[in-house]
Amino acid sequence: MARIIGGIGTTHVPSIGKAIAEKKHADPYWKPFFSGFGYVHGWLARERPDTMVIFYNDHGLNFFLDKLPTFAVGAAPEYRNEDEGWGIPVSRAVAGDPDFSWHLINGLVADEFDVTMCQEMLVDHAVTIPMALMWPDESWPVKVVPIEINTVQHPLPSLNRCLALGRSVGRAIESYQRDLKVLVVGTGGLSHQLDGERAGFINREFDELCMDRLIDQPEALTRYAIPEFVELAGAQGVEFLNWMAMRGALTGSVRQLHRNYHIPISNTAAATVVMENGPGAGLRAA
Ligand code: DHB
Ligand code: FE
Repeated sequence: MARIIGGIGTTHVPSIGKAIAEKKHADPYWKPFFSGFGYVHGWLARERPDTMVIFYNDHGLNFFLDKLPTFAVGAAPEYRNEDEGWGIPVSRAVAGDPDFSWHLINGLVADEFDVTMCQEMLVDHAVTIPMALMWPDESWPVKVVPIEINTVQHPLPSLNRCLALGRSVGRAIESYQRDLKVLVVGTGGLSHQLDGERAGFINREFDELCMDRLIDQPEALTRYAIPEFVELAGAQGVEFLNWMAMRGALTGSVRQLHRNYHIPISNTAAATVVMENGPGAGLRAA
């Protein structure tokens, strides 16, 4: 049976791709951020996941405002990246696992999540930057199921709905017959706002509250309605919905193994969190 080894939450700021290409890891601006990944590399080398389920938001590469699913699940043999216009290198394609994707889709629809099913899908920096950060040798030793959550066009799904989505995915992963070790990732955030009067807005205190509650008491975060969350975390801080879904998918007893928080990377409070999914009682069922 498939087993969930743990979860990683990480930012996906595009300029990280440029810093990697220009080997700026030791540069004073970048060092405090990149050094936060040493633990992640060691943990991944020890745990050796086979497959990664990644919750992310598309920024206009595959879905645009004309057609924007609230939740979409990839079921493709591979996922290409294309030039997104950020001036970052186009990455190579990400390997998919269609059989596992269809298993997750079946579980989600049985749980009454009416997802969009994508047998072709481009993935943007919200998938490729976290992969480049997690496996800097470019080995990318996992097959991937990308799950898109709309954090772009309102109305957005609630924090509670994203937690429930994650729980449904967690249950589906654990009912899969193959002996896979599965890593769950949520990308984006934490607080940031890219445009408008509050461009550059960051809220360290709220980010810390979100990271703390996400470990022990994710339900406590569901009290924030989306407009209130935007107020507290910035217009793009709602990418935290991807982190909520990731946390929901961790079915066991969850412990924080590592956290790095650095302000700013570009306009964003850049956070990296590793959580273990231990044996034992987890979140109550949805
Ligand atoms: C930035 C952050 C994002 O989440 C993103 O998708 C694009 C840009 C930034 O801070 O520059
Ligand atoms: Fe983003």
